[in-house]
Amino acid sequence: MNSPARFSITTPLYYVNGLPHIGSAYTTMAADAIARFHRLRGEEVLLITGTDEHGQKIQRTAEEAGVEPQTHCDQIIGSFKDLWDKYNIQYDRFSRTTASNHAKIVEEFFSKVWDKGDIYLDQQQGWYCVACEEFKEEKDLIEDHHCAIHTNKKAEWRDEQNYFFRLSKYQDQLEALYESNPDFIQPASRRNEVLNFIKQGLKDFSISRVNLDWGFPVPIDADHTIYVWFDALLGYVTALLEENDEVTLEQAITKFWPINLHLIGKDILRFHAVYWPAMLMSGDLPLPGRVFGHGFLTKDGLKMGKSLGNTIDPFELVDKYGSDALRYYFLKEVELGKDGDFNEIRFINTVNADLANDLGNLLNRKLGMLKKYCKSVVPQQNLGDIADDHPLKALGKDLGDRVNTYYTELHLSKACTDVLALIQACNKYIDDSAPWKLFKQGEQAQVEEVLFSVMESVRLAGYLLSPIIPNLSNEIYRQLGFEGDFNDLPTLAKKYPFTSHSQWGLTWSERTLSKAKPIFARLELPEEAD
Ligand code: MSP
Repeated sequence: MNSPARFSITTPLYYVNGLPHIGSAYTTMAADAIARFHRLRGEEVLLITGTDEHGQKIQRTAEEAGVEPQTHCDQIIGSFKDLWDKYNIQYDRFSRTTASNHAKIVEEFFSKVWDKGDIYLDQQQGWYCVACEEFKEEKDLIEDHHCAIHTNKKAEWRDEQNYFFRLSKYQDQLEALYESNPDFIQPASRRNEVLNFIKQGLKDFSISRVNLDWGFPVPIDADHTIYVWFDALLGYVTALLEENDEVTLEQAITKFWPINLHLIGKDILRFHAVYWPAMLMSGDLPLPGRVFGHGFLTKDGLKMGKSLGNTIDPFELVDKYGSDALRYYFLKEVELGKDGDFNEIRFINTVNADLANDLGNLLNRKLGMLKKYCKSVVPQQNLGDIADDHPLKALGKDLGDRVNTYYTELHLSKACTDVLALIQACNKYIDDSAPWKLFKQGEQAQVEEVLFSVMESVRLAGYLLSPIIPNLSNEIYRQLGFEGDFNDLPTLAKKYPFTSHSQWGLTWSERTLSKAKPIFARLELPEEAD
């Protein structure tokens, strides 16, 4: 038997300077949906997430709180794990850059790059944004040397000896990579950004800091601490080690390397699409498959920020509305790759319209009719016999293949809208074909065709939307008499293989269904919106 395909995906390793915010939740929800899709296809999947715990930013945060940095990190990481549980995120690895095995991996990698002659000591002068943990070009700063991303933070002038990585040496190799593998950076707008950046000529970047304790010492010079980004990117490698593995680079990359997809936000594109592949080239490690930079979320059309006082608390949100509604909104309404907005009223209206009305009511209505016209027994029909121009068959026929492509290409929003179009067509089809009239006219065979074709469409929608709304999909499958758990995908994918269940026209075994229960309770608009 062939072994299943493998798929590995990472979220960024999040800074632990504060509690997780909605931006981190967004990346992680998207990564989880993508990972679930690959699991649904029966693949062996590894979803890596985790935390980035070193550097000046974390050291200062801990100092301000009056605790040791390690204590601070240990206190914060629980909140990330809690939040991922609340959003129903099934990660396989939680990589912490303070883990003891990570120190060894960083040390080994640094030595490889050193032996290659790609590290040298020089003077670093420039403006450093601690919030970004990045030196900035003067032209990238706004008024009074403030950071363009962290507009309330002033960049700090640095003039110190640092170790540098010879990024410039990899200019040609990187250009060849982007040329020969046009999908390496996605979407196209981000790729162009990177191409424009490297066109200006790559400069070596410093990979050590002085006057900073919180991090790993440079192996050849203990007066220096390894730059937090150099250390953090390697967290993706360390994450691959199993508990009792020998801690070596060679061991780490045996199974899930190279990573198929690094999913990140657009602000950290340069690190992942330029610095990281060059580091890997220097370390003689295979390169990742692709780097996808998603957009930024705003709230009510405005940039979010603590100083602006308009942040969204991802804990409060999920406690109030549940994970499926939020996953659906963020993954359908915000096109991955573009910026998107969260507005509570729009959120409530969207999920009420799509999940409560279109999808939920359809299932309810259907099961009601099944009881009335077929004594709740699912009619035995061969859907292959239905004419090809049957409105639902025509729409449903290629849906599984289209949605498969959408998920693979990370068009999560299109996957949702395409499935929803089938659901909307079902509602119209019922109204047009009026099974209540057909029943009165004694056209039982036609009634059964209407009911069954709609039920099959709802089942298909449940299956195809399961990477986004797994709990609702569970409820749909259960009410249609299928046993299975979309939160236990390795088992479900064996029982309900993608090849058959993702297609319209499945053969259902005989079953009698029970009374419908609403799958999604309508959300109430906040009072002031009435
Ligand atoms: N520690 C680095 C990543 C190292 S990866 C080896 C880091 N961490 S972060 O916590 O600051 O950011 C994590 C992610 O959150 C990034 O992908 C960033 O783009 C994303 N977001 C931060 N604010 C965001 C929004 N307002 N909207 C969407 N995502 C945003 O960078």
